[in-house]
Amino acid sequence: MKITDIKGTVTLNNGVEMPYFGLGVFKAEDGQEVIDSVSFALEAGYRHIDTAAIYQNERGVGQAIRQSEVDRKEIFVTSKVWNSDQGYDSTIKAFHASLVKLDLSYLDLFLVHWPVKGKYKETYRALETLYEEGKIKAIGVSNFLVHHLEDLLSTAKIVPAINQIEYHPYLTQPELINTCFSNGIVPEAWSPLMQGQVTEVAELTQLSQKYYKTEAQLVLRWNLQKGIITIPKSSRKSRILENANIFDFEITAEDMVVIDSLNRNQRIGADPDNFNF
Ligand SMILES: NC(=O)c1ccc[n+]([C@@H]2O[C@H](COP(=O)([O-])OP(=O)(O)OC[C@H]3O[C@@H](n4cnc5c(N)ncnc54)[C@H](OP(=O)(O)O)[C@@H]3O)[C@@H](O)[C@H]2O)c1
Repeated sequence: MKITDIKGTVTLNNGVEMPYFGLGVFKAEDGQEVIDSVSFALEAGYRHIDTAAIYQNERGVGQAIRQSEVDRKEIFVTSKVWNSDQGYDSTIKAFHASLVKLDLSYLDLFLVHWPVKGKYKETYRALETLYEEGKIKAIGVSNFLVHHLEDLLSTAKIVPAINQIEYHPYLTQPELINTCFSNGIVPEAWSPLMQGQVTEVAELTQLSQKYYKTEAQLVLRWNLQKGIITIPKSSRKSRILENANIFDFEITAEDMVVIDSLNRNQRIGADPDNFNF
């Protein structure tokens, strides 16, 4: 992945160009808060927005996109099918419900949000249908571990373009990342900033000072240098700008290893093998 600027893209396995840097909107309230965050991010040059049905803010996300002066074609929009909607018919329905809320004519990426046991294959089959109908530019999964990917790949017609997983300095999942890359699936980091806790990691504070950057900037740059798409969330203008200011420095190979070595296999979110929602 060649890192250029905020609008730089990675080519997915079906040829679609996806901006490797975007805005997450989990916990951004629908209405003014999410409209302001997305509007400001687009003004600041962000070209990729990550939402999900369960975030209940697709209306606001769509409104900000439609109000923006940026052409729809230049914005990469992701949403996800929620667990209670999994299954073939219900996923088709849920996709259309997301599209209506967003008030957009297509999605760039639609993901199976979690690997719900006994259901994720049928859910993914619905995504394949929607993709073949031209309603989504790319399809993928989220929170899939190696065994979920192997199981899915044994029957899928279309290899997922993306696996969006929890990924940050305390949880690097190297085997999973390698499995993604070796199958042509681009990994994407959720909670890249450990939901704000990166500022409390002494090693990151120390290393970030060397580059005259913040802990958040260091970690986001580390994501990109690992070839991993990243979608930090903020509803504050100053942080939306701060998080995007990562294209004027490069972490040395030696310091990349220092950040890699902070791994503790420690999750902030649920374990994809053991969740009850
Ligand atoms: N697929 C999944 O299952 C899944 C799960 C979780 C998240 N996601 C996606 O990934 C996105 C990012 O993950 P996330 O929202 O969980 O966590 P995150 O991006 O790691 O962190 C967001 C939190 O950190 C704060 N923050 C943002 N920039 C900061 C900075 N520069 N310095 C210090 N604090 C900062 C934010 O507060 P303020 O808003 O107040 O700035 C917010 O509380 C989500 O928004 C969502 O789109 C997907």
